[in-house]
Amino acid sequence: MKFAIIGGSGLSSLAGLHDCRRQVVRTPFGDPSGPLTHGRLDGVDLIFLARHGYGHTIAPHEINYRANLWALHDAGVDGVVAVATVGGIRREYGPGALVLPDQIIDYTWGRRATFFEGPDQPVTHVDFTLPYDEAVRQRLARAAAAIGEPLALEGTYGCTQGPRLESAAEIRRMARDGCDLVGMTGMPEAVLARELGVPYAALGVVANHAAGMGDSAQAISMEAISRTLEEAMARVHRILAEFVRQAAQQR
Ligand code: HPA
Repeated sequence: MKFAIIGGSGLSSLAGLHDCRRQVVRTPFGDPSGPLTHGRLDGVDLIFLARHGYGHTIAPHEINYRANLWALHDAGVDGVVAVATVGGIRREYGPGALVLPDQIIDYTWGRRATFFEGPDQPVTHVDFTLPYDEAVRQRLARAAAAIGEPLALEGTYGCTQGPRLESAAEIRRMARDGCDLVGMTGMPEAVLARELGVPYAALGVVANHAAGMGDSAQAISMEAISRTLEEAMARVHRILAEFVRQAAQQR
């Protein structure tokens, strides 16, 4: 099985990826965030794509999600793991927590969020009841369990437009809506994967308490975010390495 990893803030390259080959891809929907990096992690083939570009220059609302997903689908991946940096809304999901969200609420606007549009496309309504692929989620859960890395198995991901962070009142509203996590890139990424039939799951990395909560009561500290992310991404990396190792064994 060949998986792709989409890396977000704090994960613009995958340490330990060997024999790398970069592939520039053009799609009918424009250019992806950067070339696909084909490589091997502990001997297992993998594709890596940096969601914000390799120099972290593409803002969440400017990402060409359609080109990214199309390129990965075209490369024939069996699934996608999207690493997503998030703010924690649910109290237990504080900085450094790793969470596998199981639901999404989409607050974004103006993003190109479907492949099914334009004159030649039949109107198509994909099912999105369970927005994340359960099999990929289970694989991630097993990988984390195998190496003893705590990983919470549920949470509703609220996707905001960005690039600004939220106001405290917006976070209170999101909490009332049932959001446990807040990020800016989960949509339309997840639904585009669904439209292409690519099994997709997200691995949420909590970088900070969401606005107005905990130590973010007055402001969100960017320095604290980068410190948290650096430490947490080391754990994400171990989970991903175990994930691909297990996937290779089941080939
Ligand atoms: N809000 C939105 N996106 C984020 C946050 C946040 O607090 N932290 C990391 N990504």
